[in-house]
Amino acid sequence: MGKRNKITVVGAGNVGATAAHWLASKELGDVVLVDIVEGMPQGKALDLAQAAPIEGFDAALVGATNDYAQTANSDVVIITSGLPRKPGMSRDDLLKTNAGIVSSVTEEIAKYSPDSVIIVVSNPLDAMTQVAFKKSGFPKHRVIGMAGVLDSARMRCFLAEALDVSVENVTAFVLGGHGDTMVPLPRYSTCAGIPVTELLPKEQLDAIVKRTANGGAEIVGLLKTGSAYYAPSAAAVEMTEAILKDKKKILPCAAYLEGEYGINNLYVGVPCKLGARGLEQIIEISLTNDERIALQKSAAAVQELIDVLGL
Ligand code: NAI
Ligand code: 2OP
Repeated sequence: MGKRNKITVVGAGNVGATAAHWLASKELGDVVLVDIVEGMPQGKALDLAQAAPIEGFDAALVGATNDYAQTANSDVVIITSGLPRKPGMSRDDLLKTNAGIVSSVTEEIAKYSPDSVIIVVSNPLDAMTQVAFKKSGFPKHRVIGMAGVLDSARMRCFLAEALDVSVENVTAFVLGGHGDTMVPLPRYSTCAGIPVTELLPKEQLDAIVKRTANGGAEIVGLLKTGSAYYAPSAAAVEMTEAILKDKKKILPCAAYLEGEYGINNLYVGVPCKLGARGLEQIIEISLTNDERIALQKSAAAVQELIDVLGL
């Protein structure tokens, strides 16, 4: 591989392979896809490489089975390895299995790419990000979790539909853990700069907030054999792009909090500035009493998982 950025995607399943697709087509760098399955990451990488002449992107694509030497010196590593949620299964059911997987993968990443920024996608998201943080020994600004970009994209999608406007006009804010207790904030969500609370009736906003919090389960219910992957992978790639291009972009991410929002030693979703150093700043916004209570409840749900894992 040459002088392009290097991005490793661990887990070449639905989210991982689709992330590789967005990364390559946006020419964000060379991509290494790693999985435990023999042949599958190599096959997907080769297939994607053969799409390059048609789509017109230049990126080396490499597949590897448990061979982390191939991932050496990656700039960004996206961890998607794990089991996805099946119908009727909560994200938390995945806790222990995925903790083992994320832990072993992180060990390899820390060994081969000690200077990388890790973006965790595996569920349950906030707890898995904490596992990667602890296992890597990396500073907190180089271990970030993806959930808020996805959750707020879902909210933006529903808001744009309700307002009959371009999705580009709509911003949305979602705080908290990636789970049923997430905290969508209509008050900080806008259409062309106008708070949506001035544009839509409360009942309609309440329904959108509810649908957002249930966004992952809605798709699991439809797909039946797996969970969402187009929007999740696009979200991880937006974070990757902000880091590789040093964009200083403010995005909601799972960040290790040490007193911000009154939360301590825990990964929870908050607005973050992403740039070349990874997570460069946590942005504290003022919350109403109800919003603060909802965020604390969400953090408590994450803390329960951390306690189960004994982290
Ligand atoms: P998938 O089952 O399609 O892919 C997961 C891949 O991980 C499989 O190919 C599997 O072989 C691989 N894998 C398992 N153990 C591994 C190991 N030790 N090393 C390397 N690869 C390993 O699942 P999908 O749909 O891609 O989802 C991946 C994860 O992301 C799940 O945990 C899912 O719940 C989570 N997710 C999180 C989202 C979020 O907002 N944070 C959104 C969507 C999915
Ligand atoms: C989602 O929100 C499953 O966490 C995943 O789609």
